[in-house]
Amino acid sequence: MSKRVTIPTHIAIIMDGNGRWAKQRGKERYEGHLAGVKSVRTVVEAAARAGVKYLTLYAFSTENWGRPTAEVDAIMELFCRTVVGEGETLAAQGVRVKIMGERTRFSATVLEMIDRIETTTAAGDRLTLVLAFNYSSRREMVLAMQSLAERVAAGQMRAEDIDEEAVAASLMTNGIPDPDLIIRTSGECRLSNFLLWQASYAEFYFPEVLWPDFDERAFAEALEAYAGRDRRYGLVKDES
Ligand code: FPP
Repeated sequence: MSKRVTIPTHIAIIMDGNGRWAKQRGKERYEGHLAGVKSVRTVVEAAARAGVKYLTLYAFSTENWGRPTAEVDAIMELFCRTVVGEGETLAAQGVRVKIMGERTRFSATVLEMIDRIETTTAAGDRLTLVLAFNYSSRREMVLAMQSLAERVAAGQMRAEDIDEEAVAASLMTNGIPDPDLIIRTSGECRLSNFLLWQASYAEFYFPEVLWPDFDERAFAEALEAYAGRDRRYGLVKDES
């Protein structure tokens, strides 16, 4: 049995290559991230138009705190500026924004912006845009395990009741379907602590293009590549 669905319900993207893009042009890394925000806009619009229901973007990993302070500050500032500048537009386009990650280490301003964008766009029902921000998949799983263990210890559930559904419901992606397609730009072929549980049956696509150059055409090519895949979910090919 195989399942052929041409438009993925959920696309997740590791936006990679901003730094290299800037370096190739003799610019600061910040300029690469700035150009990357433009690609975010393009892809959000293209995804909504194509009928994609969930788009998850890896905007800042827990490991990214280890980058030079100036770069971390620049990404935080870009995030805040984008929230202020795009919130109303996203709401008008029917895009609901959810921030996924631990709400630790953020400044009060960033926390306020997270609240603001989630509130402003709460009614969006065309596309859910999940921004992974201070996100780590292993950390997400550790937190899920802790919460399940606490429930068992409190007598609210039995250890043998912990099944895939219970684990999935304890993850930050609770309520969001698993990604059908995971894209990582810039030619790197790894997941880097992104959606490790959720990626079990995802299709992968690794274009060479750097994130700031990922335009509508590149997005269309990704959809085309996905449409050509044969998803079998561990079963055998349906010849009928
Ligand atoms: C990866 O490129 C990119 C990031 C770690 C940050 C992405 C952030 C943005 C696009 C801006 C903020 C986001 C939003 C949603 C407003 P890299 O720096 O690792 O590139 P390199 O591998 O070429 O050095």
